[in-house]
Amino acid sequence: MNNPVPAIQLNHLHYRYNSGNFMLNDINLAVAENELTAIVGQNGCGKTTLLKNISGLARPARGNILLRGRDTADMDIADIAAEIGFVMQEPDRQLFESTVYDEVSFALRGRKLAKSQIQEKAEAALSMVGLLDKRDDFPPALGRADRIKTVFAAILAMGPNIIMLDEPFAGQDKQGCRLIMDILANLHRQGYTIILITHNISVIAEYAQRLIVMKNGAVFMDGQPREIFARTAELAQAGILPPQITRLSQSLRKRIPLEKDALSPDELAAMLVELK
Ligand SMILES: Nc1ncnc2c1ncn2[C@@H]1O[C@H](COP(=O)(O)OP(=O)(O)O)[C@@H](O)[C@H]1O
Ligand SMILES: [Mg+2]
Repeated sequence: MNNPVPAIQLNHLHYRYNSGNFMLNDINLAVAENELTAIVGQNGCGKTTLLKNISGLARPARGNILLRGRDTADMDIADIAAEIGFVMQEPDRQLFESTVYDEVSFALRGRKLAKSQIQEKAEAALSMVGLLDKRDDFPPALGRADRIKTVFAAILAMGPNIIMLDEPFAGQDKQGCRLIMDILANLHRQGYTIILITHNISVIAEYAQRLIVMKNGAVFMDGQPREIFARTAELAQAGILPPQITRLSQSLRKRIPLEKDALSPDELAAMLVELK
């Protein structure tokens, strides 16, 4: 295989807020097309700031960001938004229209598109998140999961196939988390590249192919979740615990010959049955 161009590449990225001391400090990363990457780290370590830089909402002080090989310094926010959708942490701030459909078609209406094309794209996006039946509802009156799905659909309607989400599970109940994760898993199967900031470590264990642990404005660990979870002492330095089921299997492995650390209850059960 010849060297494919990464979806996103960060070279020596530095950033600093005018009003504070916080810095992103020399971040180097390449995200491949169709990768599902999770970012974790303690509050204030710079996760949101990193995604803001990638989306163009903040601009690096030094270093650069290549989007499919193109330097984002040469792109305006709309150019970037056509390729990368960013579902921000507080979706309610991204809601301002009076129906779900209007919200989802809002940005499309700003483009010079035929009415039928707008409808087609908006409906496709609503269908991707399972909101077609709520197209006429008033967004602020929806439940939390549906509000974030509305924002999500509005972003998908613009056609980007790289999606970044900042803590989409925050404040969601179990079912809300499950619904959102199902949408993400489905998009991932369709070829989307997904970057997800979350504290939900068991969702990461189940779905992510890659886990980036940030600490103090820098990348502290980067690898496959199973490999990262095995490095418990290092993880603890970043304030992160592996999922409970992984910790249970780590503890069991001190006593019985399990093949590897489990990432899910099913995986642990399968290994225990095998042993028996
Ligand atoms: N607009 C801002 N101005 C100054 N400092 C900020 C601003 N936004 C965030 N920070 C600071 O930058 C650091 C990183 O914030 P953030 O990227 O939001 O972290 P995380 O998403 O990992 O919790 C924090 O110390 C935060 O207080
Ligand atoms: Mg944040």
